[in-house]
Amino acid sequence: MKQGIYVGSATGQIGYALVPMIARGIMLGPDQPVILHMLDIEPAAESLNALKMELIDAAFPLLKGVVATTDVVEACKGVNIAVMVGGFRRKEGMERKDVMAKNVSIYKAQASALEKHAAADCKVLVVANPANTNALILKEFAPSIPEKNITCLIRLDHNRALGQIADKLDVQVSDVKNVIIWGNHSSTQYPDVNHATVTTSSGEKSVRELIADDHWLSSEFITTVQQRGAAIIKARKLSSALSAASAACDHIHDWVLGTPKGTWVSMGVYSDGSYGIQPGLIYSFPVTCEKGNWSIVKGLKINEFSRAKMDTTAEELAEEKSLAYSCLN
Ligand code: LMR
Repeated sequence: MKQGIYVGSATGQIGYALVPMIARGIMLGPDQPVILHMLDIEPAAESLNALKMELIDAAFPLLKGVVATTDVVEACKGVNIAVMVGGFRRKEGMERKDVMAKNVSIYKAQASALEKHAAADCKVLVVANPANTNALILKEFAPSIPEKNITCLIRLDHNRALGQIADKLDVQVSDVKNVIIWGNHSSTQYPDVNHATVTTSSGEKSVRELIADDHWLSSEFITTVQQRGAAIIKARKLSSALSAASAACDHIHDWVLGTPKGTWVSMGVYSDGSYGIQPGLIYSFPVTCEKGNWSIVKGLKINEFSRAKMDTTAEELAEEKSLAYSCLN
């Protein structure tokens, strides 16, 4: 069965990187036919049409149809997956909180359209910042979409953490696994390597065992991952786009097709109170996925250092939540 995939803000930097990845099968695998449902705002209508032309010209074998529209209802019709890229993007020097009010109204409209017109089991991934809180707003305005189906993108940070560890150890990134990003997709997130491992010629070794430099792990590594988004904005004068698009594909791919045995990934999901995180926040946890469902990895040992950092990012999310609710009223 063909899968309809909604991409908001399709002509933007992330959208432009993302749609060819989806059409090539990177998101849902090489055997899954897809129909792209692309939305953008009226001033981008011509670019949207050009994007549709390029998609036709690329002759992607898996791409079975393209809806390109500025009408949110038409864009959402029957979609199985929604990637919410659209939002007011943070510019250099701005904090995520500055963009909250603008995003509340954008997400309110998109939530109602999705709720009414998407497939009943539509899986939603929010990419636009503040991603965790935008997902929460979406959940608020689309109460009939199960909370299990509303997630936000933390895979970008997860992949960044894998990249930093691989670089430090001079190993392949594919040999590193089970890092965790806890919390918010913001500079308070907590990249945690306490359970991460590396496959070596002499078996699986813990990252802590391989990196003797504790100081690097508890300072520079953490801040590099936390600040990576800001560093890219500074260098590019634009937010990260190709890495965000690639991470969005990874997120949906693993959610739909499952995580490899013994491996978890980080996803922003609705907290059920696991690890003492206040229920009702969209918080990033380590999750495994099977048959289209994610589950939080339970029972990991949390030391004092981690506890404090997990709580700090939860506090920021609670503040964002009340800020967002104050914008709603
Ligand atoms: C990123 O992590 O690269 C982006 O979310 C940064 C941003 O604020 O746009």
